[in-house]
Amino acid sequence: MTSVRTEAASPIIVFDQVRKVFAARRASPEVGAVNGVSLSVAAGEIVGVIGRSGAGKSTLIRLVNGLEKPSSGTVTVDGTAISALDERGLRAARRSIGMIFQHFNLLSSRTAFGNVALPLEIAGRTDEIRQRVEMLLDLVGLADKRDRYPAELSGGEKQRVGIARALATAPKVLLSDEATSALDPETTAQILALLKRINRELGLTIVLITHEMAVVKTVADKVVVLEAGQIIEEGATFDIFAHPQHPTTRSFVGSVTGSALPEDIRARLKAAPSPGGQAVVKVVWTGEQSGDRALGQLARDLSIDIALLHGQIDSIAGRPFGTLTIAIPGDDATLRSAVETLTRDGLHTEVLGHVA
Ligand SMILES: Nc1ncnc2c1ncn2[C@@H]1O[C@H](COP(=O)(O)OP(=O)(O)O)[C@@H](O)[C@H]1O
Ligand SMILES: [Mg+2]
Repeated sequence: MTSVRTEAASPIIVFDQVRKVFAARRASPEVGAVNGVSLSVAAGEIVGVIGRSGAGKSTLIRLVNGLEKPSSGTVTVDGTAISALDERGLRAARRSIGMIFQHFNLLSSRTAFGNVALPLEIAGRTDEIRQRVEMLLDLVGLADKRDRYPAELSGGEKQRVGIARALATAPKVLLSDEATSALDPETTAQILALLKRINRELGLTIVLITHEMAVVKTVADKVVVLEAGQIIEEGATFDIFAHPQHPTTRSFVGSVTGSALPEDIRARLKAAPSPGGQAVVKVVWTGEQSGDRALGQLARDLSIDIALLHGQIDSIAGRPFGTLTIAIPGDDATLRSAVETLTRDGLHTEVLGHVA
């Protein structure tokens, strides 16, 4: 299978030292929503931008299509400095930048067909409407719902209309601001699969903004973690999940990979070992190794009983990924030799603490 990645190395979106400060207003103080972001998105890539509420995600994405102007720095899309365009230039540039939203933002007075047709009407491309809208509704799997009004569609169907509308003017970039946050997990998975297919088939670059790590796990090639308007970590999706560095990234990742300890175990953790107690160790392994086999071997080699406290085996960006938290009985020497053995087997280990 080949994907449309002819320009994978050339960036299509570039943020250069971008700051966005919202001026103080009456009771509200000045807010630095984006505080010095430099970022490069390669053409054909799916980038997930994750951060907590208020981190600056929506502001960041609105800077891409010029809905916000940077206070300083530049935003370039497909070679055009968005921040320097006038209204007329912006209107033209926005035709190559589609956007989808959490609450779909469909016109309730228009059918699915009418909503998808709107951007083409505005662009004065009326003679293409019929053929193009039908093709797009077909692409998102809604050919049979073309005459339904938004009130007659499910959430997932409404978002499919939103996606078809965003694609109407054949954009090069699709921006998604929490587009799956109002949907149930199953519908979310279907919408993400659709976005992935569109990315592959049309070579469309996608920037996905979300507060849910589970959303980026399967579809994003790259993950950017945003906190207080700054990038605190970025990298290939698998690496971010396998070896998160920043505490915020760790807490995001922990919620979906099973690496976050259940509260009852966390509450019992002590920094120092106690006689007759156990060490609590997190073991992480990826595609190539078999963690469960290595742990079985370890128990036999050291003649110890390893207790499984918590964990899961999952798939991140298409690669197997396992996280297990185990309790190892015995003294310091046993723990050291266990960690050495596991490390030698290529597993990543971390001693979280000790329980009595
Ligand atoms: N138009 C605005 N005027 C003033 N402050 C704003 C405006 N838009 C966003 N903010 C502030 O900027 C910060 C980042 O907001 P936002 O980009 O919406 O974050 P997120 O999408 O990550 O939740 C917040 O503190 C928010 O209150
Ligand atoms: Mg937001």
